[in-house]
Amino acid sequence: MGRRLLLEHDNVPGIETFEVYRKQGGYRSVEKALKSMSPEQVVEEVQKSGLRGRGGAGFPTGMKWSFLAKPEGVSRYLLCNADESEPGTFKDRYLMEKIPHLLIEGMIVSSYALGANTSYIYIRGEYMWVLDILEKAIAEAYASGFLGKNILGSGYDLDLYVAPGGGAYICGEETALIESLEGKRGNPRMKPPFPAVKGLWGCPTVVNNVESIAAVVPIVNDGGDEYAKIGLGKSTGTKLISAGGNLVRPGVYEIEMGITVEEFIYGDDYCRGIANNKKLKACVPGGSSVPILPAHLVTKTAAGEDRLMTYESLADGGFASGSMLGSGGFIVFDEDQCIVRNTWNFARFYAHESCGQCSPCREGTGWMEKVLYRLEHGQGNMRDIDLLAEINKKIEGNTICPLGDAAAWPVAAAIRHFREEFEWHVNHSEEAQKRNYGLLKEVASA
Ligand SMILES: Cc1cc2nc3c(=O)[nH]c(=O)nc-3n(C[C@H](O)[C@H](O)[C@H](O)COP(=O)(O)O)c2cc1C
Repeated sequence: MGRRLLLEHDNVPGIETFEVYRKQGGYRSVEKALKSMSPEQVVEEVQKSGLRGRGGAGFPTGMKWSFLAKPEGVSRYLLCNADESEPGTFKDRYLMEKIPHLLIEGMIVSSYALGANTSYIYIRGEYMWVLDILEKAIAEAYASGFLGKNILGSGYDLDLYVAPGGGAYICGEETALIESLEGKRGNPRMKPPFPAVKGLWGCPTVVNNVESIAAVVPIVNDGGDEYAKIGLGKSTGTKLISAGGNLVRPGVYEIEMGITVEEFIYGDDYCRGIANNKKLKACVPGGSSVPILPAHLVTKTAAGEDRLMTYESLADGGFASGSMLGSGGFIVFDEDQCIVRNTWNFARFYAHESCGQCSPCREGTGWMEKVLYRLEHGQGNMRDIDLLAEINKKIEGNTICPLGDAAAWPVAAAIRHFREEFEWHVNHSEEAQKRNYGLLKEVASA
């Protein structure tokens, strides 16, 4: 088992309370930063750590912070993105539910570093019980002098609010999140201007994922250089992985970046292999938006090297034979799973969640869903398979935000690696129809 920087105390009874969290060394980073470091020094440590955004894109956090505009007399904001709606991803929920004070501690040090005096945690609208947990913890932090005016006598003030999300996946896109927080419909904004220049209420704003903000705590406690010693190359530190699907032991794991995918799937400390002694068929390593990998490319790259749990290794081979670490939503499929059905299921999600602003995404996700429905239910033909690849090319890169890309990539990858399975649905249409009879009834009655 590797080092655990975030979930070290997740099983300590009462860790969700201020008292127990503090006894375990909680809020040390706030004391250290506010008493002995300037905001610039905190930013410097985060830069040194090599931390990359854990929300999906992997953009270096320290660099993002360094872009924040600082016009005189204008407020700055830190927004924590806790919208977590990517299918297959549930790590942020786990962290907030189990150790809410870790996120609050991270919010305080990060807000201090950015010069924000008001910060928000924008939490997925379906996580209402987690919102209650956070609000309780925030009240404890206020009562203990870690939030509010003149924190620890440092002269620094911070108010922290939790805002419930708009109940839509698109609200996780950072500019849609800002719109939603401002009380408007969560539609992504055109960029530039980027939030670092013009974000919430037109002010300079940083949006970071829950896990990115939590990681600032060990970075400040131990120093950026220590953090950077963990991991491999440009994938530093630890990473939370939500492992789901046909695994013996699904769950949320904190891994040191750089362990092999083989160890993660089969190792005793992690998922312990494929459930029910079945064979591995495929894996979506970074949430529903990333390309699916067929079994032979899951634990090895196309060049025959071990595939590692890093941003670089999971992307090795580009879209031809690689995928992405993404949000860390690691979904495993056994030999009995139907790739066509799964692709249709994901497509259904994106068609439902497209905000409708850009026609390539609004129309394209809908058409992909319809064509995949036809194929999965034995009503498709060979041209449908090529048509899907075409729709794909029309969406990719032609929209304001990457939701369209996120919908198109998994379809393209599924066809690339599992074309024969799509063709089987055409050539065995009766069997495909029968097999899905139960599901058809479900859909019809929904
Ligand atoms: C459709 C869509 C949904 C997203 N949902 C989330 C989300 O739920 N949580 C998240 O942290 N980032 C999400 N992102 C990424 C955010 O736009 C943004 O890049 C991220 O919050 C930045 O934080 P980080 O740099 O710490 O990763 C989403 C992006 C898109 C396009």
